[in-house]
Amino acid sequence: MKRISSLVFLVCFSISVIAQHPLFIPDTLSGTVFNLTVHKDSVQFKPGTITQTLGINNSKYLGPTLIMHKGDSVSLTVNNQLGDTTTMHWHGFHVAPKNDGGPHSMIMNGMSWNPRFVVRNDAATYWYHPHMMMKTAEQAIKGDVGLIIVRDNAEAALNLPRNYGVDDFPIIVQSVELDTTNQFMPKGMVDSVVLVNGTDTPYVNMPAQIVRLRLLNASGERTFNFGFTANKAFKIIGNDDGLLQAPVTVTSIRVSPGERYEVLLDLTGMNGQAIYLMSYASQLPMGVQGGPTMPMPPSSPPMNSPLNGIDFNILQINVVAQTSSPVTSVPTTLIPDTPLTESMANTIRTINMTADSMMVMDGPFYFNHNLFDMGRIDYRIPLNNIEIWTLLDSTMVAHPFHIHDVYFYILDRNGNPPAPEERGRKDVLLIEPNETVRFITQFKDFADTTTPYMYHCHILMHEDDGMMGQFVIGGTNTSVSSPTLSDKDILLYPNPATNILNIKLQVPGNAAIKIYDAIGRLVYSSSFDKEEAINTTNWRNGFYSLSIISDGTIIHKNFIVR
Ligand code: C2O
Ligand code: CU
Ligand code: CU
Repeated sequence: MKRISSLVFLVCFSISVIAQHPLFIPDTLSGTVFNLTVHKDSVQFKPGTITQTLGINNSKYLGPTLIMHKGDSVSLTVNNQLGDTTTMHWHGFHVAPKNDGGPHSMIMNGMSWNPRFVVRNDAATYWYHPHMMMKTAEQAIKGDVGLIIVRDNAEAALNLPRNYGVDDFPIIVQSVELDTTNQFMPKGMVDSVVLVNGTDTPYVNMPAQIVRLRLLNASGERTFNFGFTANKAFKIIGNDDGLLQAPVTVTSIRVSPGERYEVLLDLTGMNGQAIYLMSYASQLPMGVQGGPTMPMPPSSPPMNSPLNGIDFNILQINVVAQTSSPVTSVPTTLIPDTPLTESMANTIRTINMTADSMMVMDGPFYFNHNLFDMGRIDYRIPLNNIEIWTLLDSTMVAHPFHIHDVYFYILDRNGNPPAPEERGRKDVLLIEPNETVRFITQFKDFADTTTPYMYHCHILMHEDDGMMGQFVIGGTNTSVSSPTLSDKDILLYPNPATNILNIKLQVPGNAAIKIYDAIGRLVYSSSFDKEEAINTTNWRNGFYSLSIISDGTIIHKNFIVR
């Protein structure tokens, strides 16, 4: 049934001539003084009732692209005319916590906020959005979002397209749900309208040469697997917080909410042709929002968006004549970088993403069983500390984890090195169910023991529901979780098991156990004290993996049932 309806949808999508709209290219603001006025507005996205939006300056939906130069002292003023309290966060920016625009930096209606700081970030694509406690989804989805392009000398020395709106395009993709009266449903999971720069069913003209696309997924929950018609190859040159050391050639790139990728697409010789930016969402695994819809317990909210698990077009690109000075080749190397390495770390923290039960699909989700508390500091981090954060996803959905203030390097995913395009500097990573991801980072420059920075899931409804924590820099190293469990504390026997598998915990304390089969399905889950005997008589023969979770520590063990 699912298959048939997707098919019908696909056919309709491709044969009906949908009214197309020219891609909106947000204005730019540059220099060192930036004025942003956030206000209520409305846009006729669909026939019928007009959609209530939030605009910035003279735009009715989304804000101007801010162009900044590394090393500049900038002054930003945010005037709040929303009729509601808000904040404004510079996502990816390395700034002092009081300038970061987190939930503590509230701007009351009618008031303004004026952070000033030196731009320390490297050339890359960043963005800004509100971070108001419990209202981030609503305010960001309604349009209170914009891009920030940072330029620097190292990037300027490379022969790359950088003519904004001509060969260098902002591509802000948001998939949204509109209700029957065309109003945004900020927490809706049946998102079926894909906006690019706030444009529904958009097309854009791009010259027949190498063009640069700055991809930002600003959606509330959907992950895209971006690619182009007929699997046309393209080159990734940068991710969240900088250019890569060298371009990476791919045919698709998975981008979860909050992530940015800069890509080069070669349209040489294609004058007069059209291709599409697409999402190859059929390749996303189940559990990643946007992949195939999971079989759901009857009580769950609807999340069967027609876009889930299918390949669909996002933006029509009409190739037109070359510009007068086209970029015709891609540099073979970009920006040298020396990632932090494991031996440099002096603190390890573990964050286990959990839910009330394995069946929960819409939250609340927790970090180490805690919901966000604005009055609780989860970690106190010494200035300049180099840390490894181990993330574990013990829920059945994927989470884009984001941390403020710093960029990080992914060390490994389930023990394997990350894909080349994920090896650069990042501030968001998507973690899949039952996955373990480690990253390394250093907390430099801004000690302030009173104003915290955030880390959170960038699925906005998860964040608003409390999947967020906070840290301060400076003072003595503390952590709310005290990992004590180690591999040798767990006995598992007999292995292979036939009828009974015994699990014994050698240390005091309670824990949760979860057992997954070889294809990652949860087959057993319980919380236990010291020991448990599990009847495996009716289990299929094969490999199983056991996770024991205790106080934020997780230990994996494999066993066989025969
Ligand atoms: Cu994009 Cu804490 O945010
Ligand atoms: Cu951020
Ligand atoms: Cu999440």
